[in-house]
Amino acid sequence: MRNLSELLLLHNDLDELFFAHQTALLHFEFDRALAILEDYERELWTHIRDEEDILMPVYKERASQPRGAGFQLFLDDHHRMSEFVKLLKPEIEKLAADPAPEKQLIWLLDRESFFKKLCGHHDKRETDIFYPEMDRITTDEEKLALLDRVKWTPAAG
Ligand SMILES: [Fe+2]
Ligand SMILES: [Fe+2]
Repeated sequence: MRNLSELLLLHNDLDELFFAHQTALLHFEFDRALAILEDYERELWTHIRDEEDILMPVYKERASQPRGAGFQLFLDDHHRMSEFVKLLKPEIEKLAADPAPEKQLIWLLDRESFFKKLCGHHDKRETDIFYPEMDRITTDEEKLALLDRVKWTPAAG
């Protein structure tokens, strides 16, 4: 039997991509860091679209939505995360043009540390509540039908 929670593996894929992006930053490979961040942004966006367009309507209609896990909170998290990535991109372009980028790089890593905290909170909300709840409120047939519509699934899924 398949579970919707298997989509949580995508969060690890996203974390790996972000790690690769930060590794490139540490090596002063700013063009590469930007290219990886753009991949990250694209995959994040695909995952968010899958959650909002395919899974969220079911959650909104049927889930118990305990305090701290109302559907609007998930949408707000997604909005904040996507907006944050958008703000990071021009900062990396500036680094590429800076002959002494150390100070700006440290500032950027601090901003990215904040972004990672945002993602960590969101991951916890989805791991603890959203996906277990989605698995609880859907039948096996519905799970398969929903997974079939999702655009981005884990390689092993
Ligand atoms: Fe997610
Ligand atoms: Fe999400």
